[in-house]
Amino acid sequence: MSINEILYNIQDLSVEFHTRVGILGAVDHASLDIRRGEVLGLVGESGCGKSTLGKALMRMIEEPGKITSGKLLFDNIDILALDDSRMRELRGSRISMVFQDPMTSLNPVQRVVDHITEAIQVHQSYVTDKEARARAANLVDRLGISHDRLDDYPHHLSGGMRQRVMIGLALALRADLVIADEATTSLDVIVEAQFLDLLRELRNEFDLTILLITHNMGIVAELADRVAVMYAGRLVELAEVNQLFSNPKHPYTEGLLRAVPNIQLDEGELYKMAGSPPDLVRPPSGCRFHPRCPKVMEICSQVDPIFKSIAPNRMVNCWLYQEVPDEKLWVGGSTQ
Ligand SMILES: Nc1ncnc2c1ncn2[C@@H]1O[C@H](COP(=O)(O)OP(=O)(O)OP(=O)(O)O)[C@@H](O)[C@H]1O
Ligand SMILES: [Mg+2]
Repeated sequence: MSINEILYNIQDLSVEFHTRVGILGAVDHASLDIRRGEVLGLVGESGCGKSTLGKALMRMIEEPGKITSGKLLFDNIDILALDDSRMRELRGSRISMVFQDPMTSLNPVQRVVDHITEAIQVHQSYVTDKEARARAANLVDRLGISHDRLDDYPHHLSGGMRQRVMIGLALALRADLVIADEATTSLDVIVEAQFLDLLRELRNEFDLTILLITHNMGIVAELADRVAVMYAGRLVELAEVNQLFSNPKHPYTEGLLRAVPNIQLDEGELYKMAGSPPDLVRPPSGCRFHPRCPKVMEICSQVDPIFKSIAPNRMVNCWLYQEVPDEKLWVGGSTQ
């Protein structure tokens, strides 16, 4: 297995929500590859479209939302072309999502053991109930849950335990891709640290690929191999984790990192980025970050920059790193 092998190829993905006040572009022409075996962090302020992107990868966008452009190739399977039953099958087996509150994805009237044995038997229908239970016991032990909790119902478990059960389910299903959306937000610091250790361990052992959606740069620093940064529905930077932390390119990434305690950039003090993310029904013209950007130039409000490669493993969506077109080409706010 090569880490450069692409597991999920996302091309030009857009998702819109039809709201009372207009069309809200939650994900705007996003292109990204998720590589087999990696932990890819997806970060950005609240409301920038991280969960929407994650759900789109599972084709779980619900009304009033719609995928309005793009191609999604998961292991060369054209996700948007699958019929609903094939999609359900895939969702229940190869791609799995762990939410902030796993209560919403666990069945309240099913015991822990039933969830896991069902997942095992989906793939291996020949496994007897007794054998499946033994395997479930083994799995929850590995996840740090005593196997006498197997007969508990989800509401008997703590938030941290429910998250572990969700991970257990993904493992029992032998998911290739786990999308963890703010999976640690409801955990206390100690349980969070245990959960991260567990993810790290399992990831190595099971060759999991993880899309780690979070606000928390500390978690990203600990766990991610690469990081994608999103702002106002657009991807603005993609880099290997060390590169991103030591040398952020996009002014938004820089702002995000400066706002994290313990991460020192130059002599920079902890600071709060000015302003707030825009209304996605009426986003700013050009680069959506321009009204907040300390390095804004004239062109930034007039023409969209392109999300493009500036070095190996490095993409940025910013006029600072691409040639500004000849002035006469963009006078009047549009390219010709
Ligand atoms: N069901 C919905 N109906 C209308 N708008 C929605 C819906 N779901 C999300 N949105 C809008 O889409 C945008 C992106 O939301 P999303 O939940 O993807 O952001 P996020 O980055 O995951 O935020 P957070 O960090 O707070 O979880 C927001 O403006 C949000 O209000
Ligand atoms: Mg979210």
